[in-house]
Amino acid sequence: MTAPLDPEGMTGPLKSVRKALPHDSAAKHVSGTATYIDDMVEPTGTLHVVPGWARDAVRGRIQSVDLDEVRSAPGVVAVLTAEDVPGTNDCSSAFGDDPVLAKDEILFHGQVVFAVVAEARDQARKAAQKARIEVAGITPILTVDDAVDADITVLPDYQFRRGSPETGMTAAETIQSGTMRIGGQEHFYLEGQVAMAQPQEDGGMLVHSSTQHPTEIQHTVAKVLGVPDAAVTAEVRRMGGGFGGKESQANQWAALAALAANKTGQACKMRLDRDDDMIMTGKRHDFKVNWKVGHDGEGRIRAVDMEFLARCGYSVDLSLGVNDRTLFHADSSYFYPDALIRSRRLRTDTCSNTAFRGFGGPQGMLAAERMIDAIAIRLGKDPLEIRKLNFYDGERNLTPYGMPVEEYEVMHDLIDQLEQSSDYWARREDVSAFNAENAILKKGLALTPVKFGISFTLKHLNQAGALVHLYTDGSVHLNHGGTEMGQGLYQKVAQVVAEEFGITLDKVLITATNTSKVPNTGPTAASSGTDLNAMAAKLAAKEIKARLITFLCEQHQCSAEAIHFSDNKVLVGDQSFALSEIAKQAHMARIQMSHAGFYATPGITWDRDSATGRPFYYFAFGGACAEVTIDTMTGEMTVDRVDILHDVGHSLNPAIDMGQIEGGFVQGMGWLTTEELVWDGKGRLRTHAPSTYKIPTASDIPEEFTVRLYEGSGNPQATVYRSKAVGEPPVMLANAVFCAINDAVASLAPGEVPDLDAPATPEAIMKAVQDMRRRKHA
Ligand code: MTE
Ligand code: MOS
Repeated sequence: MTAPLDPEGMTGPLKSVRKALPHDSAAKHVSGTATYIDDMVEPTGTLHVVPGWARDAVRGRIQSVDLDEVRSAPGVVAVLTAEDVPGTNDCSSAFGDDPVLAKDEILFHGQVVFAVVAEARDQARKAAQKARIEVAGITPILTVDDAVDADITVLPDYQFRRGSPETGMTAAETIQSGTMRIGGQEHFYLEGQVAMAQPQEDGGMLVHSSTQHPTEIQHTVAKVLGVPDAAVTAEVRRMGGGFGGKESQANQWAALAALAANKTGQACKMRLDRDDDMIMTGKRHDFKVNWKVGHDGEGRIRAVDMEFLARCGYSVDLSLGVNDRTLFHADSSYFYPDALIRSRRLRTDTCSNTAFRGFGGPQGMLAAERMIDAIAIRLGKDPLEIRKLNFYDGERNLTPYGMPVEEYEVMHDLIDQLEQSSDYWARREDVSAFNAENAILKKGLALTPVKFGISFTLKHLNQAGALVHLYTDGSVHLNHGGTEMGQGLYQKVAQVVAEEFGITLDKVLITATNTSKVPNTGPTAASSGTDLNAMAAKLAAKEIKARLITFLCEQHQCSAEAIHFSDNKVLVGDQSFALSEIAKQAHMARIQMSHAGFYATPGITWDRDSATGRPFYYFAFGGACAEVTIDTMTGEMTVDRVDILHDVGHSLNPAIDMGQIEGGFVQGMGWLTTEELVWDGKGRLRTHAPSTYKIPTASDIPEEFTVRLYEGSGNPQATVYRSKAVGEPPVMLANAVFCAINDAVASLAPGEVPDLDAPATPEAIMKAVQDMRRRKHA
């Protein structure tokens, strides 16, 4: 076997990267010794903050707020309202529309009006219940349909248009259309929103926040307190899951903790109760999709017209990027010659929807799969055949936003391999035979592709910094702007740094993300954490190494080629030194052994206004084949078998990548099958605890579950060791489960397209089944 080579020209076998090593905190996670914010040793006199809200109010003007009983409750030290904000009362990322504390108006059921600061958390919780808030409620706008009727949006409409969809549609042999509803999703991070703020000298504030975006925590706290950014430091060692829910939505809780700390002069901790967390924070956007597709007799798409109506909630939050990403993925893996893809960002009087793994992409792709399934059903063909017929290829290569799918061959090869390994066609016959024999139980099978664009579509976010120190004992301190939420980013970056220095991993100290070490960072999101931060850290290590090499060349009168870093040693010609020894010598020679690395993704040119350019550095690909059984008497569904083949380029760490693929798939499956958010007519979220909101558990993992990494020639782009991002794309592998359920339902009335919405809960399946039976007998 030949040893893999570093694409940046380093030769020799790789020792730390591309190894299936455990997550750096794996042992700590399973033994309960990993420190989350609520586990941190509390400074003496730490106070606890709990949000207060108008429990009966939906939307309306605040008439009166009576907090007397709250203030006099046992243990209460302070009560904060909008009046107590010394700076700007806003915790939004950009648009200025997210009050930390509501002032005159309640915008949705669950909005925070005040915060109680007490000696004990329980005291604060009890006190918070004693508020009397009167609100003159108005009829709330709750659903996408309400908002369309009222014509009310948080952002202007946006669209991609290519060719002439009108002419294309007229020229098509068959036109089909329909409406699909796609539900939202609660993040259900195991560690809820939490922050602890500690006042520092001269008005400074140190904030420990469970956030994917420490820089934004810094900015928000500075803005709310009315102090310079430099006075605020945000730090996070790890999150117990973020999944997008802590990209912007950690801001409010950090702001409240900081306001309380500022007011009381004590350390203040704010940890949301699970129900409050579910009621108050934003979720994955739910959509209504109106689709229309024109195709020929073979099943080739001629034109599409898709309208994505998103429930954004009461404010903008990240709805711009999320909804753009829906449009960017409304093609799934299919070429649309003529296309109109429209997006409306509807404002509703509900929590403000936000980032969630896939960032709008999954919803766009699912709508595309619905169109493909409709074409297959109408033509009496197998959906996989229609999928492949419409795949991007050498000629039909441009996405509706003008970026070519350069790696279409990877996509074809991956799906071909999966088709073989899952034994798709033989199992298609088995499924048909099963369905012919069984009246009650019906099976369904689907094989669906994933193509996910990697890069932030907001160009400036595609940058990262890292800070690396080499100490005189040969140990390395590693810091970068990326955050750890369980995805294994810290481990991967440490492996890259160890590789660069030729040292063993135990020499690399991973440290908490901190805005005073690496400033002006973007969120850890868009799956690009490793691409960006590992590259910045690699460049930092490389620079320190270069300085040592220059030093050694002078000392030993040799060329740089004679120097090698390996196994904690430095080889100079045929002499071998411990790295610690070289580090000491370099220090004595007054050489700086610390460097701040910086990386910006090259080649991204997207211009949103003209909708032209290249938004993504590259695509990550994948495919999943799912087989399900539904019970047409009860709607019960089981996932019998899933085969996944996923492209991560050359994996930096196959163990971590497999974990991301399995976890992402199961999370996607939860979104599409069991996780259902229900708001009542008064805008109250009724599913605000695990008793009513069903996330998948270990027992929901398919009985037969085969996950493999695609073995290809690596990322054609010069990413770190030719790896590809893996965080989000696997969520969309779960589309296969949804399409398989649809396939099972479709078997009830050949030629009819089921009216199945997501999530395909037993109720939704039953509804679709009954509708099919009615249609068959009509
Ligand atoms: N994996 C775990 N275990 N926990 C998480 O919160 N978040 C996902 C994904 N995988 C998440 C996760 C999301 S939404 C993103 S964008 C990426 O991880 C972010 O990390 P990365 O860029 O380092 O992949
Ligand atoms: Mo992930 S939704 O980009 O945080």
